[in-house]
Amino acid sequence: MMKFKLLLAGSLVAIGAMALLANNINEKEKQRVELTKAPSQAGIVGKEKSEEWAKYYPRQFDSWKKTKEYDTFADMLAKDPALNIAWAGYAFSKDYNSPRGHYYALQDNINTLRTGAPVDAKTGPLPTACWTCKSPDIPRLIEEDGELEFFTGKWAKYGSQVVNSIGCANCHDDKTAELKVRVPHLNRGLQAAGLKTFEESTHQDKRSLVCAQCHVEYYFKKTEWKDAKGVDKTAMVVTLPWANGIGKDGNAGVEGMIKYYDEIGFADWTHSISKTPMLKAQHPGYEFWKSGIHGQKRCFMC
Ligand code: HEC
Ligand code: HEC
Repeated sequence: MMKFKLLLAGSLVAIGAMALLANNINEKEKQRVELTKAPSQAGIVGKEKSEEWAKYYPRQFDSWKKTKEYDTFADMLAKDPALNIAWAGYAFSKDYNSPRGHYYALQDNINTLRTGAPVDAKTGPLPTACWTCKSPDIPRLIEEDGELEFFTGKWAKYGSQVVNSIGCANCHDDKTAELKVRVPHLNRGLQAAGLKTFEESTHQDKRSLVCAQCHVEYYFKKTEWKDAKGVDKTAMVVTLPWANGIGKDGNAGVEGMIKYYDEIGFADWTHSISKTPMLKAQHPGYEFWKSGIHGQKRCFMC
């Protein structure tokens, strides 16, 4: 009898726990559907401003804003003066600070001595491409002006247009809220590497691929083109050096990228003391992640 009572009690507890769990799963599913609800069928007007998305997704807006809390950076050249010598003749020897939160991306790009002090849209030193990973205004400008026009000219050409730091519209579609890649160079790089495009990828892979719009190694590919009026122009197009795969086995290592640069005879700059052609990997976070255990197991990048 005792045994029967125990069994009954045990079963009741199990049934109760299962009911709670089912309820919890239903609740979570309801939340998930609610959260991924399309914000606006017509799209969000002024979608480059993350504040406009806050009207639909206040909680995600609050967590996005937390990138403001990561506000400190170090002067890496002061910390390690050897870098001044290693990068002699390269813009990074003028100024190089460690990175901080997305909230500051635009401000830090404007503040760095690398971008100089241009006096009009035509003075340098850097090309428009240096805006590419800083703002949701970039996909807008690429859509409005065309990719080649966007990549033509000096950085200051778009100074009055790029006003919002990295935000919702860099990673989300404003009609469906789904993850979206908004710059053409990533899919071109993936295709060159023989990998699936963003759209062909699984949902899990997409979660990391949105970061690969920016946290990757790249170079500016000099591209001659003619505009609609037949004027000859030169664009410096952000290009991922992935045509030999992202390294060994199309996956681990940086060998594929070095081979790519060697094949096209590319150097980031010529060292001003040794006169050696040099490469400097920029921020190949996605490639490093992909070649490590988390990338191989297809976990989420962060
Ligand atoms: C539109 C370009 C862009 C996209 C997309 C992007 N980032 Fe960033 N990220 C940056 C830039 C630029 C900085 C440096 C900002 C600064 O120093 O002012 C940065 C900084 C960071 C930092 C803080 C600095 C550091 O290196 O520790 C983290 C963490 C980070 N990003 C993670 C991610 C993750 C995860 C994703 C994808 C979910 C992502 N980022 C997508 C451009 C981007
Ligand atoms: C750097 C890329 C990036 C930026 C910027 C970004 N998101 Fe996301 N967002 C993601 C990723 C990745 C996920 C996870 C998607 C998944 O797992 O389905 C996500 C998930 C979401 C979701 C789904 C529910 C959830 O919380 O998981 C919503 C809604 C959302 N983001 C809204 C926003 C809003 C609003 C902003 C701007 C304030 C924003 N996101 C900025 C990459 C980004």
